[in-house]
Amino acid sequence: MNFFDLTGKNAIIFGGAGGLGKLIAREYALAGAKVAIASRSEEKLAAAVADLKAETGLEDAFRYYVCDATDEPAVEATAKKANEEMGPVTILVNSQGINKKFPVFEFAVEDFNNVMNANVTSILITAKHFAPYMKEAHYGKIVNVSSVRGRIATKGPGNAAYCSSKGAEDMLTKVLAAELGPYGITVNAFGPNIMKTPMMNKIFEMRANEAGITVEEYLDRQAANLPLRRMSDPIDCVGTALFLAAPASDFLTGNLLYPDGGLTAIG
Ligand SMILES: NC(=O)c1ccc[n+]([C@@H]2O[C@H](COP(=O)([O-])OP(=O)(O)OC[C@H]3O[C@@H](n4cnc5c(N)ncnc54)[C@H](OP(=O)(O)O)[C@@H]3O)[C@@H](O)[C@H]2O)c1
Repeated sequence: MNFFDLTGKNAIIFGGAGGLGKLIAREYALAGAKVAIASRSEEKLAAAVADLKAETGLEDAFRYYVCDATDEPAVEATAKKANEEMGPVTILVNSQGINKKFPVFEFAVEDFNNVMNANVTSILITAKHFAPYMKEAHYGKIVNVSSVRGRIATKGPGNAAYCSSKGAEDMLTKVLAAELGPYGITVNAFGPNIMKTPMMNKIFEMRANEAGITVEEYLDRQAANLPLRRMSDPIDCVGTALFLAAPASDFLTGNLLYPDGGLTAIG
């Protein structure tokens, strides 16, 4: 058996036009899978698919579905369409997510709920509507992109919603693993440390401004605190994402892995 071969498999990646999701989409296709990416902006999805085709030369490997992962009827319809058009979709990656940062004293409940909805409820919805097709196939892999912030809170203000959402995502991963395991479906999550993706750019600028330093200096300081002495790039997480979608992890479920340069070892 080739433990990392995805030939013949169909995958859908929510948030697949994003900084991390797009790299995962590319890697899965290079491992042999047909890959759909899904999120809200058609413009970003179309551009990402065009890039992915050009980068890999794999003209038939990619497609997209416009779908808000918090909109249950839309996810249900996308699950039906993707399974009809691609064949059984047995790999689901939840790489969608948002972050809203306010000190607790100023955190509007609506903002808090929006983060929980985008980062946690969306995972229940995608699992609920894609798992029945995996159950039919007697095989499935659900890969949730969590964060070290599900396990370690930040010292500074601003992360009440994000950390709570990632902690909840970790527990939802375990519950889904317990409930879906009897149908041959594994559910795992991995938690990156901060990476340089569009989601983080504004936050890096904010933190650097607060400290009165440049973004580069801020990133160097962050790196100096890690065992591996460098910041993560999204590519550092792609091997873990492949492992969790591939036969290599078929007996692993309900687990949280941390491609984080060692932060959780010392955090
Ligand atoms: N970047 C980091 O430092 C970091 C660190 C730890 C964990 N993570 C996690 O990694 C995952 C990917 O983040 P990223 O860094 O790649 O961020 P990103 O570049 O901002 O990508 C996030 C993607 O999620 C999509 N999205 C947001 N809300 C959605 C919804 N309701 N339905 C469908 N798609 C939605 C966005 O597309 P649309 O806006 O078009 O919908 C976007 O493509 C997230 O779960 C994030 O929490 C990131």
